[in-house]
Amino acid sequence: MKVFAFFFCTLSFATPSYAADVDNGSELHSESCTQCHDSDAYTRKDRKVQDLAGLGTQVRFCKDNLGVTWFDDEVDDVIGFLNQKYYHF
Ligand code: HEC
Repeated sequence: MKVFAFFFCTLSFATPSYAADVDNGSELHSESCTQCHDSDAYTRKDRKVQDLAGLGTQVRFCKDNLGVTWFDDEVDDVIGFLNQKYYHF
C-alpha cells in the first residue's frame, strides 16, 4: 500500500499539466482565490509570474497564506486552470 501511495504521488507530481483537472481547479479557485485579487492580477502587463514553475510557487504561496488545505493534486488542478485560462505557458 505504501509503495502504491508513493508511486501515485510521484506520478501526479511528475505530470501536473497532464493530470490537472481544470474544471475542478476552476471551482477551487472561485471558492478560495478571489477575495484579494481578481483575474486582473493574472493578466496585467507587469504580472509577476513568468513561467510554469513560478506559477506553481505563487499558487502555493497564496494558498499557504490563505491557510486552505488542498492536496497536491488539487494545487495542480488550480495551476492547470490558471495556466489554461490566463498564462498559457
Ligand atoms: C490573502 C490575500 C490573497 C488571497 C486570498 C490569494 N492571493 Fe494570490 N496574491 C496575493 C497578493 C498580495 C499577490 C501579489 C500581487 C502583487 O504582487 O501585486 C498575489 C498574486 C497572485 C498571483 C500572481 C499574479 C501575477 O502577478 O502573475 C497568482 C497566480 C495568485 N496570486 C494566485 C492565487 C491563488 C491560486 C489563490 C487561491 C489559493 C490566491 N492567489 C489567493 C494575495 C492573495
